[in-house]
Amino acid sequence: MNILFATSEAVPLAKTGGLADVAGALPKALNKRGVDTRVVLPKYAQIPAALIGQFVQIATFNVSFGWRNQYCGLLKAEFEGVTYYLIDNEHYFKRHGLYGYDDDSERFVFFCFAVMEAVRYMDFHPDIVHCHDWQTGLIPFLLKTRYFYDPAWAYTKSVFTIHNLKYQGLFGIEHLQDLLGVGHDMFYADSLEFHGAGSCMKGGLVYADKLTTVSNTYAEEIQTEYFGEKLDSLLRYRSGDLIGIVNGIDDELFDPMNDPALEVPYRNSISRKRKNKVELQRELGLPQSEEIPLIGIVSRLVEQKGFDLITATLEEILNEDVQFVILGAGDAQYEHFFNDAAYRHPDKFKVWIGYDDRLARRIYAGSDLFAMPSQFEPCGLSQLLALRYRSVPIVRETGGLKDTVQAYDEYNGEGNGFSFTNYNAHDYMYTVRRALALYRNEEVWKQIVNNGNKEDYSWNRSAKAYISVYSQLLAHRKEKESWPVIL
Ligand code: ADP
Ligand code: GLC
Repeated sequence: MNILFATSEAVPLAKTGGLADVAGALPKALNKRGVDTRVVLPKYAQIPAALIGQFVQIATFNVSFGWRNQYCGLLKAEFEGVTYYLIDNEHYFKRHGLYGYDDDSERFVFFCFAVMEAVRYMDFHPDIVHCHDWQTGLIPFLLKTRYFYDPAWAYTKSVFTIHNLKYQGLFGIEHLQDLLGVGHDMFYADSLEFHGAGSCMKGGLVYADKLTTVSNTYAEEIQTEYFGEKLDSLLRYRSGDLIGIVNGIDDELFDPMNDPALEVPYRNSISRKRKNKVELQRELGLPQSEEIPLIGIVSRLVEQKGFDLITATLEEILNEDVQFVILGAGDAQYEHFFNDAAYRHPDKFKVWIGYDDRLARRIYAGSDLFAMPSQFEPCGLSQLLALRYRSVPIVRETGGLKDTVQAYDEYNGEGNGFSFTNYNAHDYMYTVRRALALYRNEEVWKQIVNNGNKEDYSWNRSAKAYISVYSQLLAHRKEKESWPVIL
């Protein structure tokens, strides 16, 4: 089985969030199970030089889309058994960061067309192209339209994974028509049109053969109006093709027993873990103490992650005997709020604005509790990393948080974290206080921390679930296509 992952980010090359973790770890897990899974992504300027040095150029060609005709280089390298391809065009991708440019539409439409062309130059015929989020949403669309009868894609099926329904790649219809070189007939409600705009995500949602999302609960939630981002009726229509598969983490890459970012390696020993807390306190300029509970957050600073609850309650929580550390970057309003709080509470609260993999690992290891009271959360990898580093998660019961964190139950001693149901600052604060109270009971705390060990959060289970989705698709591959063909 040959699977081509088309993604806008993947560890170890380029990362802004959980998508990169998934696109890095899942292909590794699939390859280990005998599925030849390769990954294609843009050649961004931020890919570390040491890794770029290992790529060789295997082709150059031109990509035409709309009236444009652009250069494209194709590079190839192998890391840890996974073959990576890079799409090279310096005009589009040799920039600071990955996203957030005025011409992101053109950059990722180019990427989608470039992937369609690049396959001609690979020694690999994909049985399935597995696309992720809006940046690659137009690939399933192109497969069902312009490339329908292209031998380079003969019998290839598509899977589209929703990592976050909120980011849809919405642009003007005329602009997308111009980029795609198609007429208005592709912009009706049953194709790429979305409330008067053109939607790249609908390219995936309408045209992919199978849809997946990154947890069972989120798969259900997005079929409701509240979480559906105005796409719930389409998702209900396609519910027979939509399946939730919870993410895993790469347990080799994130292993407190073998993590160069940490001072003291550990696995189950709370006392060894606490040595890392003291090192973190020293590094951040907090009073050093193994006893004071430390709450950590590593996150994009955006509304989704529950920062309205965190900002509303921070002052009150800091009245407790506690330390609180946040690493993140994002909305300026949260950055200002936390910088100001850190200035006023130098002995209790620290914030580090930016993206820093080393500090992230030190916070997972150094914190006793990990706060993630998200408004919605398709899966969430941070709470899984927290569990792996024995930091007890405090979450809201939504999406993947609900599927991976079980609230501690005093009566039977089960549960690996703390959770609350309603998106409400008081409920969040009550839950934090309960966690802090239990932290002071050594025996109970040991039990909760150890409960975090019971579930397997690696890709073992979920890689199998993806293989079963791929197998189902390929079993029907030779059946007559029912799709309209637009050449
Ligand atoms: P999302 O993809 O919505 O941002 P996830 O929880 O799925 O959320 O994944 C976030 C990933 O990005 C985790 O690996 C987390 O450790 C990492 N991360 C988030 N913010 C930062 C940051 N400021 N510095 C380092 N790593 C970060
Ligand atoms: C998105 C979601 C996050 C998920 C990640 C990887 O960024 O916000 O919940 O874990 O994708 O699937």
